[in-house]
Amino acid sequence: MSEHTPTGAQPEEPTGSDPVRLDQGHVQGSGGIPERFTNPGLPPHVLRNADRDDKAAKRAERQVSVLFLLSILGTVLFVVAYFLFDVEDTVWVPITGEMSATNLFLGLGLAFSLLGIGLGAVHWAKTLMPDAESVEMRHPLRSQAEDRQGFVDTMLDGGESSQLTRRPLLKATFGAAMGLFAVPLLVQLVGSLGPLPKNDLSVTFWNGEKGEDGHWTAKKRRLHRDPEDTPIKPGEVTIGSVFHIQPEGLLELEDDKLDEMSKSSVLLMRLDPQDFQNTDQGRKARDWGYQGIVAYSKVCTHVGCPVGLYEQTTHHLLCPCHQSTFDVTNDCEVIFGPAGRPLPQLKITVDSEGYLIADQPFQEPVGPSFWERES
Ligand code: FES
Repeated sequence: MSEHTPTGAQPEEPTGSDPVRLDQGHVQGSGGIPERFTNPGLPPHVLRNADRDDKAAKRAERQVSVLFLLSILGTVLFVVAYFLFDVEDTVWVPITGEMSATNLFLGLGLAFSLLGIGLGAVHWAKTLMPDAESVEMRHPLRSQAEDRQGFVDTMLDGGESSQLTRRPLLKATFGAAMGLFAVPLLVQLVGSLGPLPKNDLSVTFWNGEKGEDGHWTAKKRRLHRDPEDTPIKPGEVTIGSVFHIQPEGLLELEDDKLDEMSKSSVLLMRLDPQDFQNTDQGRKARDWGYQGIVAYSKVCTHVGCPVGLYEQTTHHLLCPCHQSTFDVTNDCEVIFGPAGRPLPQLKITVDSEGYLIADQPFQEPVGPSFWERES
């Protein structure tokens, strides 16, 4: 890299037409486009206050440091506001009126954090970093030892000329501002992941009653038609029919109703008991049913779409999202598509009044089978 002299390059020799000076407009007779321009060169280099006066340089250093400190305070404000305010908290702000305290202070914190670094960097570049024009001449792109050494020397020169090594206050505040700048991103990433799912995926409304302490007490719930919310007797389930089922009591829920529905939905079908395959899975499917009536989770084990299509002649259940197909005669084994495992079966029987009930909750989590991927 070599520095230009303020006088600039020499004009080239004329080659057929005279060079055009910038103040002389274009050359007539060539479509209005000049063929060549004189090189105006570089304006004379003007030293800045900080270049001439050490006091001015010190003042600029303090100004830059104040801006980086502003960034640090913004970052601290962001972190404090994140933990201090609840999402429901509001503050009154002139002109806009009432607004979310979290949004306001997180926004202000992030704004000051970014603004401080941005303004500090610009002010640093304009007052303390070298402002001489420099030109790197074209050369072949090859990575030789001297080039690599030249790169290292240039980086070291840059560090030296930016005065980072000579100004510890600047170095410390810049380092702290840049280091803390990532904190808001990390706080958001880690703090906003939400609660751990715990056993939410393996416990459904078929498990029974959920107490105040979050524990479930076993209760055999009736199978209710969705959306009528009425119990169903075996005689109402004819061969070839299919019913959409929810557990008794779920449709009356006021809280978490949709969450619970999405896990507890069941499809109820009746097959001729002779239609079940004579395999371990087929026999298990028939035994967990009642007189040929079987109940399976409606949540696809691929990525969780509702399995909504039943082919009564083949006894296949189809998921419309990616065409996974489950064979009801063989415990809903996957016979086509990307689903990784069969639909979980709900074991059913009848209660003393003859209504269909769940004899036990699902014995495995419903929905996407991510927990089985490694097996
Ligand atoms: S969600 Fe059912 S096949 Fe993809």
